[in-house]
Formats: sequence, C-alpha cells, structure tokens
Amino acid sequence: MPSVSNKLTVKLGARSYDILIGKGLLKSAGMKIHNTVGNGKCWIITDENLAPLYLPLIQKSLAEAAMQSHTIILPAGEDTKNFETVKMLTNKVLDEIPERGSTLIALGGGVVGDLTGFAASVILRGINFIQIPTTFLAQVDSSVGGKTGINTRHGKNLIGAFYQPNLVITDTDVLNSLPKREILAGYAEVVKYGLIRDATFFEWLEKNGNAVVNGEFEALSYAIQKSCGIKAAIVADDEYERGTRALLNFGHTFGHALEAETEFGSELNHGEAVSIGMTLACKLSNILGFSRSATLNRTLNHFNKIGLMTNFPKIENRQWKPHKILGHMAHDKKNKSGRNTFVLMRDIGEAFVSDDVNLEVVERLLQEPNS
Ligand SMILES: NC(=O)c1ccc[n+]([C@@H]2O[C@H](COP(=O)([O-])OP(=O)(O)OC[C@H]3O[C@@H](n4cnc5c(N)ncnc54)[C@H](O)[C@@H]3O)[C@@H](O)[C@H]2O)c1
Ligand SMILES: [Zn+2]
Repeated sequence: MPSVSNKLTVKLGARSYDILIGKGLLKSAGMKIHNTVGNGKCWIITDENLAPLYLPLIQKSLAEAAMQSHTIILPAGEDTKNFETVKMLTNKVLDEIPERGSTLIALGGGVVGDLTGFAASVILRGINFIQIPTTFLAQVDSSVGGKTGINTRHGKNLIGAFYQPNLVITDTDVLNSLPKREILAGYAEVVKYGLIRDATFFEWLEKNGNAVVNGEFEALSYAIQKSCGIKAAIVADDEYERGTRALLNFGHTFGHALEAETEFGSELNHGEAVSIGMTLACKLSNILGFSRSATLNRTLNHFNKIGLMTNFPKIENRQWKPHKILGHMAHDKKNKSGRNTFVLMRDIGEAFVSDDVNLEVVERLLQEPNS
C-alpha cells in the first residue's frame, strides 16, 4: 500500500484546518476538539440512527476534556436537510445562549454535516464547527472543503454557505456499522477523484476497489487519505469554485437532477445518483468525441465490477422522463447565463468543464438507459 500521512491539512491561510484519519479516534475526540477550539460550550448535532451507536462515546470524551455539551438529535435522511430543521436547530442553540467561542459538532453523514455547517455559519454570524463524519461519503468528500447547505423545492443545496470546519475527525471504525449500500455511495465519490484528476489512483482502485468496499482497513484508509488529499488540494487552489473546484461536480449535474426527480427520497441516495450521473457524463464525453470508447469501457467495467449503479434503477411507478430530468438541470447552480454546465472528460484523470453542450444530444442520451 503506498503511504500517505494520516493527518492532512487543508491549506487556506487563516482558515486552514487538519483532517485526522485513523482507527479509534472517537475516544479522544473531546481532547482534540478542546485543543482546537478551546473549552467554550458545544452542541453535538447527530441523527437518530447514530445517537445510540456513538453519542455516548463522544459525550464521555467531551466530559473528560472538561467541555460542557448539549445534544440535538435529528431525524435521519435527506428530507431533514431543509429550512425547518435549520430553524429548529438554530433556535435550540440560541435557547442555551451561545457565544462566539461556542462550537457545533456534526456527528453524522453528509446530511448532518451540511446542515450543521450551515447553522454554524449563521449563528452569531459564525461559530466554531467540527466535523466527525460517519459515512464513507462524508469521510471522503462532504466533511472536507466547506460547502454547507440545505435543499429547497427548487433543488438541492441551493441555499448554503462556504464555511470551513475547524477540524475534521475521521474514525474509520464507525464504518463497521454502515450498510453496504452507503459504502458504495461513498465509493462513487472516491472513484470520481481518480476520474477527474488522478489516473494512477484510478489504476490503484481497479486493483484494490473491492478491498475498499469490503472494508479492509489498509485499503479503506488509503482510499480515504488519497481522496481527502485530492479534494484538499483542489479546495486550497479554488475555495469558492471559480475554476478548478467545479471539476468536483463530475457526474453531479445529472446526479442532482435525478435526486430532485426522486424528491431527495430513499429511492436513490446521493452516491447512487452520482454514479449514474458519472456514467452519463462519461458517455456524453464519448458521444461528443472528447474521449475514446476504450476510456468509457474501462470506466464502466470498473463500475460494474464494484457494483456501482450505471443505469436508472427500475422502480415501481417511476418513469425516468428525459424532459423532466432536463427541467431539473435547468435549475443547477453551476449554470452560467442560462447555459447548462457539464463536467466532461478527455481521458481518465483529465476532466474539464464545458457550457457548450447541445441539449438535444443530452436528451437522446437520457432516453438510452430506459431502452
Ligand atoms: N458538502 C459537500 O461538499 C457535500 C459533498 C457530497 C455530498 N454532500 C451531501 O451529503 C449528503 C449525503 O450524505 P451521506 O451519503 O453521508 O448520507 P446521510 O447523512 O443521509 O447518511 C446516510 C444514512 O446512513 C446513516 N449512518 C450514517 N453514519 C452511519 C454509521 N456509521 N453507521 C450506521 N448508519 C450510519 C444515517 O443515519 C443515514 O440514514 C447529501 O445531502 C449530499 O448533498 C455534500
Ligand atoms: Zn457528491
């Protein structure tokens, strides 16, 4: 296994922060948090699935570090990522009189992380924010980079803020309780990094991807470290997505539209929507003549080998209508001057952004998986 450090720093000047990656880190989370933000009041925000599993450990560890903590437990799932939850959350925190030195701790997946980060960004115009990601997706992606937000009926993550955490504590042990479906969802974001930026990492995944999704520690922790490293470098280069950061949206223009079409429900999770979206982006790159068929086939072979979704799933009473998916894409926040923005690829590891794609070609492509 190539060696990568288990402490990474996202280099953003005064907003720089560490990502700690390892086994058994939750036990000492309190001291790590105390060392980062001091001993102000803190709130642990988590969901109902995680509370019975990990909350006592975090509470104990904060108490051992002499930190006073409150807890807010949210319903699990994407439906929670909305304005009503932000209202409830911020009011509960305000009830306990926070100060600028107070801290919100997100113990959960991307839903808890995105919501908590957004709340932290607006309470007193910004209080401390710690991420303790518990899904594979959150460990390799959403806990790093400072995008926070919520969904509205207009689409996904359309309300939010760039707000960096003060520290990310990634304990690989928590993945032992994560269902396989969620591991695969995180793997979609892992393979994304190889596809957009790092052909050598993609090659490594071709050999070791099954070990990663089967939870073999060495492979898993290397995949997390490598993914966070690639993301940290892109974020350090372009924190506010004026250029290269947009590459991280590979597969997401389609993916977000599919999530909107399924009303952010449990039919498709984020990673599943993104893996179908990446398949479509690879096919589109090939149809438009940017990438070779061999590149497309190599990518699809890997997705199939790991068990990532490549087609719209067959769901009772669900018809995937191209014009409806295109309708959702019109709301994408990456669009410029009314034109849809797509991340395409020339080869594995070489992605680029285009706002010059003929939507009739996209509509024909969207018909394909239904046939
Ligand atoms: N901010 C970003 O940069 C960014 C990047 C990617 C995705 N996201 C967002 O992240 C969200 C998806 O996050 P997610 O995939 O982590 O889903 P999630 O937070 O909904 O978690 C998935 C499910 O797994 C459960 N769970 C979490 N950790 C567990 C564990 N260790 N053991 C057992 N069960 C556990 C949760 O309770 C939930 O039911 C989406 O809203 C997406 O938009 C944000
Ligand atoms: Zn994503």
